[in-house]
Amino acid sequence: MNIAILASGNGTNFEAIAKAVKKGRVKANIKLVLTDKEKAFVRKRAARLKIRDIFVDPRKFDSRLEFDKELVKFLKKEKIDLIVLAGFMRILSSEFVKAFKNKILNIHPALLPAFKGDTAIQMAYNHGSKVTGVTVHFVDEKVDNGPIVLQESINIQKGLTLPELEEKIHRVEHKLYPLAIKLYAEKKLKIRGRHVEII
Ligand code: GAR
Repeated sequence: MNIAILASGNGTNFEAIAKAVKKGRVKANIKLVLTDKEKAFVRKRAARLKIRDIFVDPRKFDSRLEFDKELVKFLKKEKIDLIVLAGFMRILSSEFVKAFKNKILNIHPALLPAFKGDTAIQMAYNHGSKVTGVTVHFVDEKVDNGPIVLQESINIQKGLTLPELEEKIHRVEHKLYPLAIKLYAEKKLKIRGRHVEII
C-alpha cells in the first residue's frame, strides 16, 4: 500500500507514522511527503528519515482548483493508495476528495464535531472544556466532517496549561494515527454511511 503524507508544518505526525512503518508495525510504504510550504519543518524530518519530499508551490497556480488538479494528477501517477493529511492546512476541493473517495484520512486535535477548524486545541481550552481529545476520520467534501475512524478523549484537569494540553494531544495523536493507518492497511475499516466499522 502506497501512502502519501500531506503536511504543512512541523511534521511530528508524519514522523510518528514513518517510525511505525520503519518498525514494521504498519505494513505500508510511505512513498512521499508533500507540502505546500517551502520552509515547513516536515521537510527536514523527511530528509532525516530518507523519505522523498515534494514541495508544490500554491502561488504558481491560478486557483485552488488548479492546484488540487495538479496534486491529483501527480498522486495518481505515483499510484498512491492512501492519502494521509497530517497538519495539511488547506481545504481540499470536492474534485480532490472525489478523486480519492474513501482514501483520505485526516487527524484533528479535538473530539469532532466539537471545535472544527485550525485552532481546535486553543478553542477547547479557552472554552473551559473539561474533556477534549483527538479524532482520526475519513475526509469527505465538508471540512472536519467525514466518518470517524478512531477517537480518544483527554481530560483537561484544573491547572493544566495550554502547552501541557498541546503536548498531551500530540502524544495521543502519535499513537492514534499509526493505529488508524494500520487498520486501513489491513483492510479492517468498513465505511457504512457515517459509521466506520472496525472488523
Ligand atoms: C496536529 O495537531 C493536527 O491534529 C493538526 O495540526 C497539527 C499538525 O502537527 N491539524 C489540524 O488542526 C487540522 N484542522 P504536526 O505538523 O506536528 O504533525
